[in-house]
Amino acid sequence: MLRRAKCDLTQLDAVAVTVGPGLIGALLVGVSFAKSLAYALNIPLLAIHHLEGHISAVYLTQEEIPFPAVALVVSGGHTNLYNMPKRGEYYLLGKTLDDAAGEALDKGARLLGYEYPGGPIIDRLAKQGNPEIYPFTIPYPKGLNFSFSGVKTALRQTLQKEDTLRHLPSFDADIAASYQKAIVESLVLKSCSALKQEKAKSIILVGGVAANSLLRQRMKAEGERAGFAVYIPPPHHCTDNAAMIAMAGLSHLERGDFAPLDLSPNPVLALTSPC
Ligand code: KG4
Ligand code: ZN
Repeated sequence: MLRRAKCDLTQLDAVAVTVGPGLIGALLVGVSFAKSLAYALNIPLLAIHHLEGHISAVYLTQEEIPFPAVALVVSGGHTNLYNMPKRGEYYLLGKTLDDAAGEALDKGARLLGYEYPGGPIIDRLAKQGNPEIYPFTIPYPKGLNFSFSGVKTALRQTLQKEDTLRHLPSFDADIAASYQKAIVESLVLKSCSALKQEKAKSIILVGGVAANSLLRQRMKAEGERAGFAVYIPPPHHCTDNAAMIAMAGLSHLERGDFAPLDLSPNPVLALTSPC
């Protein structure tokens, strides 16, 4: 990493690390290493919330964003909508009541016989498919929440019912296109409702699922139609990456928000303001 960034340890100003939420094993490895490095180099340790990292990814390529904004964080573990009155302030508006969008895509791909991660596979297959052949109902639970377990069940039932058609060359592509469309439309509809409710000027779309081509295209189209700005990091900054954690760390460093060297990871950490 340092070699790729063409710098050495003496040039580091601080060490930013994901403190939660996530799998405890992975968090422990990262936090232990970051603490040792910060101690050895005598530089500040910065504790970053994973979702704050995702949201900060947008600032890797964008200097200013018009606020108030709505942030949609869609990953393998989260589908959260936030109201952001300004940078670094997050108020949860809605979230998934069951599976996260990425989880639903991964599980859907698994039902079709594909390996993890299934999201990019569904994305690729769907480009060749017709979403109207096996239409699924767009999930639309109450308020600004999401729910994807119903469409996953509908996919399973369709696969059982249409078992005899599975040998058709276009079958996987058609069903992937319909499944992806139902999930993406739900994400777009709820985001538009949130933007309207909060009278927001822009949306920040981040997390691994924000790499999805249809979601990117549909959100940009809605932004043009309804008159809000759409900010989506390039795909390689949407899926988990170190640069987004460093970017979030920069704000912590600038305001002197340092973590203690006895920092412990928190697998269920909530994103609260100010972060
Ligand atoms: O943010 P992320 O890298 O890790 C978590 O924090 O969970 O997101 C991973 C999720 C996986 O569910 C993966 O299938 C999904 O993002 N994903 C995609 C695409 N690329 C990654 N989903 C749909 N289309 C993609 N192109
Ligand atoms: Zn992530």
